[in-house]
Amino acid sequence: MRMDIEFVRSRFIKHFDGKTGSVYASPGRINLIGEHTDYNGGYVFPGAVDKGIIAEMRINGTPDTIRAYSIDLKDRLDFRLSDQKPQASWARYIYGICKEMWKLGVPVKGFNIAFAGDVPQGAGMSSSAAMESCFAFGLNDLFGDNKVTPWNMVLAGQATEHNYVGVNCGIMDQFASVFGKRGYVMRLDCRSREFEYFPFDPKGYKLVLLDSAVKHELASSAYNDRRKSCENVVAALAAKFPGRKFETLRDANWDDLAAVKEDVSEEDYKRAHFVLGETDRVLAFSDALTKGDYEEAGRLMYATHEGLSKEYEVSCEELDFLNEIAKANGVTGSRIMGGGFGGCTINLVKEDLYAQFIDDAKKKYAEKYGRVPKVYDVVIGDGSRKLA
Ligand code: GLA
Repeated sequence: MRMDIEFVRSRFIKHFDGKTGSVYASPGRINLIGEHTDYNGGYVFPGAVDKGIIAEMRINGTPDTIRAYSIDLKDRLDFRLSDQKPQASWARYIYGICKEMWKLGVPVKGFNIAFAGDVPQGAGMSSSAAMESCFAFGLNDLFGDNKVTPWNMVLAGQATEHNYVGVNCGIMDQFASVFGKRGYVMRLDCRSREFEYFPFDPKGYKLVLLDSAVKHELASSAYNDRRKSCENVVAALAAKFPGRKFETLRDANWDDLAAVKEDVSEEDYKRAHFVLGETDRVLAFSDALTKGDYEEAGRLMYATHEGLSKEYEVSCEELDFLNEIAKANGVTGSRIMGGGFGGCTINLVKEDLYAQFIDDAKKKYAEKYGRVPKVYDVVIGDGSRKLA
């Protein structure tokens, strides 16, 4: 991570009572493939990155007063857990995770906290999951004797999004932030919650993110709409096949989906069609990775982009343009990463094409949109941990 303990510590000392506390770190994530499948009980293929959040925390002896400082925003706020949720959106992550950890039996009391991060915001790299898991990890250590399991911390982070932020997200981001391991990506089955670590070191290739720097205003409501479409199809399936159990789209096969085509809206059908296809693609991708067949893995990434753009409709002009540039440069695989509506493309590119691709993307994007896309080389890093 760019920022180190000393940087956060110096601010913690300055803004509070001169004492030091404990320091925790949690990363953001990438996802190789498996988009919008997590809340549908499908598979995802994320890995933690070397960028994240660092927080220093110390019990302050009050019953429930949180004294918080966002180093990046230079914003100081005190609030009580017995009060309403704070106005400032960054403080809601702290307030929300405290409430969710409390539900899990952690007797949270007052504490001081200062934190900073280097996950680019709005890039689809889950800066918010990094905050949630970092704070959950800290609370578990300070107040919970570390009794809350990693999975429950994942769920507490997700519940914070649902209950305090308003995004009905799945579990991929928080999972990756808690369970990540340097050098490994993880294939998670979001229905059974079983997962496997895959070493990720594609010899001769690089993984690089291109940030469109587009931030979609209505991203969270559009995201929730996509989820609702999937739930509509699940409800239609349950009505059609009363003898069977449909909890998510994962419980449906292609024949089932075809059987309810006339019972659901065209739009909802398209969304579900993407989700079933994406589940198939993640499995094919794992096979390709196991065989070291990166050409096939790349082809599947392009197919995902196509589906996200045309069927799930979470792309935008700028992301489609970056995808086209990748194709034109012979990049092995390229697609939108994360929830969509802006943010990054993830690109699997042969080392010898890398420089030319990046130069061309910067030039063409700047010509068309008047700004240069940011470039992040992916380094797969560790999950949540205590630093000091
Ligand atoms: C966001 C959500 C995740 C997941 C992705 C799309 O990152 O937080 O739960 O649904 O979008 O794959």
